Parts: sequence; structure tokens; C-alpha cells
Amino acid sequence: MFNIAIDGPAGAGKSTAARLAAKELGFIYVDTGALYRAIGVSVLRKGLDTSVKENVLPVLGEIKVTLGFVDGEQRVYLNGEDVSKEIRLPEASMAASNVSAMPEVRAFLMSLQRELAEKNECIMDGRDIGTVILPDAQLKIFLTASPEIRAKRRFDELEAKGTTVDYDSLLEEIKQRDYQDSHRETAPLKPAEDSVYLDTSDMPLQKVVETIVRLAGNN
Ligand code: DC
Repeated sequence: MFNIAIDGPAGAGKSTAARLAAKELGFIYVDTGALYRAIGVSVLRKGLDTSVKENVLPVLGEIKVTLGFVDGEQRVYLNGEDVSKEIRLPEASMAASNVSAMPEVRAFLMSLQRELAEKNECIMDGRDIGTVILPDAQLKIFLTASPEIRAKRRFDELEAKGTTVDYDSLLEEIKQRDYQDSHRETAPLKPAEDSVYLDTSDMPLQKVVETIVRLAGNN
């Protein structure tokens, strides 16, 4: 199966670009952040601190996280319940980042991701797809942009949805997640050695999509 791995920091535009490129290529798009978010949400639902291992590990024994695809759109299920909306709540972002630093959580989600890639031509995005999950992916891309641009994009996205947020706190959260995701011991965020580095700070979305599709065609 032809697999494309896209990694990069929060808010770099991975999901939007990957979704559109997958459509053009006729691939499925797998957003792996949703899996970590689902685990984060299941800990948050218990009212527990998501950065404490003793709170998180027991939850792994109680949950089954699965993905489904409805009209090409990914859905994430927690014990069969569709939590696709809940995982987008602002508090789910840091919760996901917290639980994702735990090796047991990463191991829990590994085979699900690998099986999807074995069975489907896909674009999979995350933090460790090219480095750990799919080291043999035919194409690897590291997609990034400056923290300020990423915060601005997120700000515009939320405003368009009618949500008022504070730009400075968005920027702060992005920087905190960048630090946390790239400094953890297990599968830290970093470009795979054989990845194409794409800084999208000054690139319109359509150009990013075109680049991904073109690179896929060259492989
Ligand atoms: O892509 P996202 O913002 O939805 O991801 C939420 C968090 O999950 C992110 O801060 C780090 C973690 N994550 C990860 O560790 N590995 C992945 N492959 C995807 C996400």
C-alpha cells in the first residue's frame, strides 16, 4: 500500500492539507491526533489530571478506541461512542499532549495505526508517523510554520466558527505543546531523516496540497 506520513507541530495545517490531498489522490486520511485526544477525553471525563500516569494507565484497560470513515470523514469512537466532537474541545488538546508522552499510551495505539496503513492507501498525520509508526512510508513530509503563524491560523479558524479566543493564550498553548511534544523521551516530534521539509508559513493552502500531490506522483 502507498502510505504518506505527514508529521509536524500543532496548527501547521497538516490536517486540512492532508485531507484535501487525500481526496485528490483517492486515499483515506488518518488523523492520529484524534486517537490521543480520545484517550485524553476519557481521562478528563473522570475529572482526573491527564499528566499523571497513575490516572491514565488504568483507563487504558477500560477503553477501546476505534476509527471509522463516514463519507470519507474520519470518526473516532470511544467504546463505540462517537466522540469526534468532544475531542475538539480546547481542553482536549493539552490532555492529548499529556497522555501522548506516556510510552504505554503510544504502544496502546500503535497496532491500530499500522493496521490502517497496511490495509489502505492513506495519508496519515501526527508527530511520529514517519519516524516510528510507518518508517517505510513511501513519502514522508515534515510540515511546519512559525508559532505566530500557526496561532494566527487557529485564531482565524475559531473566529470563523464564532468562538472568541485570546490570540496570546493560543500562542502560549502552541509553544507549550511544541515544547512538550518535541522534548518527550518516547517518539518525540522531529523530522524523519528521509522526510521532505515543508515550511508553510508563506504558502497558501492550495500550494501545500499541490506540493503533497506532486511529491506523491514522483514516488
Ligand atoms: O494533531 P493534534 O493536535 O490533534 O494532536 C494532539 C496531541 O496528540 C499532540 O499535542 C501530541 C499528540 N500526538 C502524538 O503524540 N502523536 C501523534 N501521532 C499525534 C498526536
